[in-house]
Amino acid sequence: MSDIITIDEQLLIGAGGHQATYIHPRDQTKCIKIPHTPDDGDVRKEMRYRKSCAAKLERSRLVTKFFGTAETNLGLGYIFERVLDYNGKTGRDLKEFLPKVKPDARTLQRIWTVMLNFKSDFLHENIAIVDTDITNFMVQEPAPGVYRVRIVDNIGTPVLIPLVYWFEFAAAWKARRYWNRIVAWLAENYSEVITAEFAAQLKAQ
Ligand SMILES: Nc1ncnc2c1ncn2[C@@H]1O[C@H](COP(=O)(O)OP(=O)(O)O)[C@@H](O)[C@H]1O
Ligand SMILES: [Mg+2]
Repeated sequence: MSDIITIDEQLLIGAGGHQATYIHPRDQTKCIKIPHTPDDGDVRKEMRYRKSCAAKLERSRLVTKFFGTAETNLGLGYIFERVLDYNGKTGRDLKEFLPKVKPDARTLQRIWTVMLNFKSDFLHENIAIVDTDITNFMVQEPAPGVYRVRIVDNIGTPVLIPLVYWFEFAAAWKARRYWNRIVAWLAENYSEVITAEFAAQLKAQ
């Protein structure tokens, strides 16, 4: 009996510039990522970070868990925790979650709470991220009306001497800079929800 996992295109969740993500055919709580090229630099960078900072990432509330690799019919797959909502659906990324036009007061309040919790987790965990692409941040609804942001991609650092892996003060400094970059980007591109006033509150002081 072959142990190769067979992935059907119908299991596709989404694909970005580096990899395609599928629902794990044998476990709904996991997903399998197949890099577009076998030696993808971003995948290597993420794996280096996960290895160097294994204990920190194990404790993380934000970053999805990694469960190792497996052979699939599409090539070598990387198995991760899937961002799963209480209703069995895949969570939405921030781009799908944030409206472009001003929502009603209740929705706006909910979004602001999600973002303030994201800030609190991010500046507490000091996760190394590489850019501010909001499709790599997903909003999970583990129970009705309960939301949390998860980071699913683009973690680590491309620099050769990764101080942020070794020193928490460096990680904290870098995380604040990246956080403020995310806030500035959101304030510019989602000004109806991340208003100037709220952006000031969201920024790391
Ligand atoms: N752990 C996950 N759970 C659920 N969906 C995910 C997960 N990781 C990625 N996705 C979805 O798959 C898409 C592509 O995966 P991603 O890892 O971001 O690939 P890329 O490196 O090519 O950007 C994401 O934008 C997201 O919609
Ligand atoms: Mg991505």
